[in-house]
Amino acid sequence: MFFQLTEEQLMIQQAARDFAQQELLPGVIERDEHQKFPKEQVKRLGELGFLGMMVDPKYGGGGLDAISYVLAMEEISKIDASVSVIMSVNNSLVCWGLETFGTEAQKQKYLVPLAKGEIIGAFCLSEPEAGSDATSQRTTAVDNGDHYILNGTKNWITNGGSASVYLVMAQTDVSKGHKGINCLIVEKDMPGFTIGLKENKLGIRGSDTHSLMFQDVKVPKEQRVGEDGFGFKFAMKTLTGGRIGIASQALGIASGAYELALKYSKERKAFGKEISHHQAIQFKLADMATEIEAARLLCLKAAWLKDNGLDYNQAGSMAKLFSSEVAMRTTVEAVQIHGGYGYVKEFHVERLMRDAKITQIYEGTSEIQRIVIARSVLQ
Ligand code: CAA
Repeated sequence: MFFQLTEEQLMIQQAARDFAQQELLPGVIERDEHQKFPKEQVKRLGELGFLGMMVDPKYGGGGLDAISYVLAMEEISKIDASVSVIMSVNNSLVCWGLETFGTEAQKQKYLVPLAKGEIIGAFCLSEPEAGSDATSQRTTAVDNGDHYILNGTKNWITNGGSASVYLVMAQTDVSKGHKGINCLIVEKDMPGFTIGLKENKLGIRGSDTHSLMFQDVKVPKEQRVGEDGFGFKFAMKTLTGGRIGIASQALGIASGAYELALKYSKERKAFGKEISHHQAIQFKLADMATEIEAARLLCLKAAWLKDNGLDYNQAGSMAKLFSSEVAMRTTVEAVQIHGGYGYVKEFHVERLMRDAKITQIYEGTSEIQRIVIARSVLQ
C-alpha cells in the first residue's frame, strides 16, 4: 500500500493551493457578507481546468483522476467553500453524469463547454416535498410524442441562477414509482422555465441557491439522459460520486479552520505564554489533527476505489458522513481557540463554521449516509 502522491497529483494540489491563496482569499469575506456570486473566480477556475477535472480531454476536460480532484477540492475549500461547491456540482454531478450516461450529441453540445468551464451546470433533484425522500418526485415530465411537457418546482438548487444547463429529474409515469423518473437536460432560456428567488443562507453565501419553476416547458426527447425511466438511478449513481466531492469540501473546511487555529495558537499569549503551550489548547489541536487525517484517508480511499473501477458507494458515504461531522466539530473548536476574535469576520473561522453545516445536509444528510452505509454493511 502506497501513501505517496504522484508528481502530477502534487502539482495539481499546489496549483489549487496557489489559486486559492492568490485569487480566492482576497474578497472572500466581502463575497460572503454580500452573497456575491464569485463570477470572476469561477471563470478563472474554468480557465485553469478545475471545472472539468476528470472529463476525458477529447471532451475538453483535464483527464485527471479522482484523487487529484479530492486534493484540489480540499485546497479550494480551505479558503472559499462557496467556490468549491460550484466546482463540485459541475465536476461530480453534471460533467460526470453527462460523460457517463449522455449521448454523443449531448456530450458535444453540453459536456464540452461545461468541462472547459465556459458554462456551468446545475443538478435538480430536491423539491419542496422531496429532499431526503428523493423518490417522491412531484415534478412531472409528461410524454407528448417527440417531447416532454415539464411542470413543477425544484428547491435549493446550487448554481440555480448562474447555470446554463440544468439536469432535471421528473416523474413521467407515477405508476412505475422511481422507475418512472427521467432526467432531462433543460436549457436556461427554454420558454416556461423561471428562476425563483435566491436563498439567503447561513453559509456558502457566495454560491447562488435558487428555487426553479417549470411551467409547460417543452423538452425534446433527445434531451433525456439514458433510457426511459433511468432518471432515479442516474441521480443515485451521480450522487455516489458527488458525495466524494462534498466529503472533500468538508475536509477542506476542517483543515482550513485547523490551520488558522494552529497559527493563532502560536501567536496569541495568555497567562504569560502562547496559548499553544496550554494543554487545553494542545488537546484540541491534537484531536483536530487526528480527525482531519482520518477524514482525508477516507476521502482518498473512496477516490482510489473510483479510480480503480471498484465499488465506492459505501466508501463515498463514509467519507461524506465522517468528513462533514469533522468539519462541524473542527470549526466550532477553531472558533473556541480564537476566543472573541473567532466570533468576528476578519479571522475567517466563523465563516468556516457556518460553511461547515451544509456539508451535513446537502448531497444526502448525515442520516441518509448512515442509511446507505447500514444497507451496505447489512447486505
Ligand atoms: N447507485 C445505483 N442505484 C441506486 C443507488 C446507488 N447508489 N442507490 C439506490 N439505488 C437504486 C436502488 O437499487 C433501487 O433500484 P431497484 O428498485 O431497481 O433495486 C432504487 O435506486 C431505489 O432505491 P431505494 O429502494 O434504496 O430507495 P429509497 O427510497 O429507500 O432510498 C435513498 C434511497 C438512498 C434514501 C435516496 O433517496 C437518497 O439518496 N436520498 C437523498 C437524496 C440526496 O442525496 N439529495 C441531494 C440533492 S442534490 C444536492 O444536494 C446537490 C447540491 O446542491 C450540492
